[in-house]
Amino acid sequence: MLHALIAGSGSEIPPNLVKNEALARIMDTSDAWIRERTGVETRYFVDAGTSTTDLAVPAARRALERAGVAPEEVDLVVFATMTPDHFFPGNGGLLQARLGLRPVPCFDIRQQCTGFLYGLQLADAHVRAGLAKTILVVGAEVHTGFMPWSAGAWARLAGDVDAPLAPGEWEFNTRIRHLTVLFGDGAAAVVVRAHEGAGRGVVDHLLAADGADYDKLCVPGVGFKHRPFVDHAQIDRGDFVPIMEGRYVFKMATTRMTEVAQAILARNGLTTGDLSLVLMHQANKRINEYVQRALGIPDEKVVHNIHKYGNTTAATIPLLWDECARAGRIGPGDLVLLVGFGAGMTWGATLVRG
Ligand code: ACO
Repeated sequence: MLHALIAGSGSEIPPNLVKNEALARIMDTSDAWIRERTGVETRYFVDAGTSTTDLAVPAARRALERAGVAPEEVDLVVFATMTPDHFFPGNGGLLQARLGLRPVPCFDIRQQCTGFLYGLQLADAHVRAGLAKTILVVGAEVHTGFMPWSAGAWARLAGDVDAPLAPGEWEFNTRIRHLTVLFGDGAAAVVVRAHEGAGRGVVDHLLAADGADYDKLCVPGVGFKHRPFVDHAQIDRGDFVPIMEGRYVFKMATTRMTEVAQAILARNGLTTGDLSLVLMHQANKRINEYVQRALGIPDEKVVHNIHKYGNTTAATIPLLWDECARAGRIGPGDLVLLVGFGAGMTWGATLVRG
């Protein structure tokens, strides 16, 4: 039976390295707090004007090159992001045009930090149904558009200005510090190909969503619940800044990620001893350490990159895959467990052989 095999991967990290110390110039935070409570040491930000599609283009080109696939062979695009270039149209078609692909179907999906896992299932289902053979699955984000900082704050972040921020602005930035210190920009892509034979490729997916508590992690305004969907009152209230109840999300992430990992292993008659690697969404290193302990997985099987990139939402899991693949850590047939949790709430796990 045909199923999806990850045949190549690629990523793109933007040029501007931002250390925790730089954030401490524009809000009340510290390198020690951020490292200890989240595991983040640095993140990378795009230059103003660079979009999610701009990052996805080089990531996808690298994935195609490593898979040995020509652009004209691609017959489907799945683009996962919560930070699209435009309200509409979605990024899938923009990427299709920029890569010079044929006018193939393009899906835009928005399951936030679980977006890549949802995208992989969509790609695998198309392969199994005989609807596609060569698919680009992309996870990419430019979170910096969410950062509601003034030009003066950005200048201080870049080290161009030394003078302290005005107290009102400092307080405003401090009110949302639990959120802004976590995120970075980045993109990663995989090329999925139809493959026959059980020894390689996707083994199983287990995805879930529950919207009951969506408002614990969401952007409260700038949506079509409002008429018009954006207005000055929403901007003045800061309704375009995400709400995140950190402790609640932390608890849900540790619970759901552990449960879904155990469930997918059990239903495939596998144990953690069968796994070569575990690649978890990178929202907070402490979340992943908790899940690792609960599952009883040794350190050498768990890969982190949150210390370098922060949380890149839909890009974290394919970024990890790409780094591990390039480092020779995913050999043919190696069993890898992918696990994620994100806004929605959405969560899931995928078992895939290299
Ligand atoms: N710097 C310094 N102090 C801070 C910062 C900061 N950046 N952020 C919060 N604090 C302070 C708080 O104000 C609070 O101070 P107080 O005790 O004086 O009131 C104290 O630290 C503790 O705050 P908590 O919110 O309890 O801190 P916690 O240890 O829970 O860490 C965090 C907060 C990092 C947000 C954590 O809860 C977390 O990671 N939650 C999960 C995030 C996540 O997984 N998001 C999902 C992915 S995003 C997506 O899907 C789009």
